[in-house]
Amino acid sequence: MPESKSSKNEVEISRDRLAELLNEDLAREYQAIISYVVYSQVLSGAEYMDIADQLQIHAKQELDHALAISRQIDYLGKMPAVTPKAVRTSKEAKEMLRFDLENENETIRNYRDRVRQCEALGEYAMAEQIRQILVQEQDHQIDLATALGEDVPDVSGPQGQGLRKAS
Ligand SMILES: [Fe+2]
Ligand SMILES: [Fe+2]
Repeated sequence: MPESKSSKNEVEISRDRLAELLNEDLAREYQAIISYVVYSQVLSGAEYMDIADQLQIHAKQELDHALAISRQIDYLGKMPAVTPKAVRTSKEAKEMLRFDLENENETIRNYRDRVRQCEALGEYAMAEQIRQILVQEQDHQIDLATALGEDVPDVSGPQGQGLRKAS
């Protein structure tokens, strides 16, 4: 069975652990807001005009995600984090887009896990909210891959694994 080793801990999840993981998601959303705010303004050159416009839209969507994730953390009785994950910068347009794409890949991987974890805890409304965020993250990933002239990376991990509640 292609079950990944790491999934066991993450599958047997408590509400406290879910809140911790959501705080990491929130830190990634802050990181995304900052990088899209900056990159959308500094990307220059005719070839990057379209993607610069798209990055401005991403920035606003990432803010909506941060608000939605904070609400879930508060609902779980925890304090939302205030520190972004580190933002990488570059003078090279391609490199900036590559950083964004890598971050989106990581974000998508995490939210896919989060949907399963929410469902394992019976938090179906939360799972639904994260699914809606995931749809937008996948759009971001496509926009970035397209701007880089690449195929959309396959970041799907082990899917459809059974989930158990921590006992
Ligand atoms: Fe986001
Ligand atoms: Fe995103």
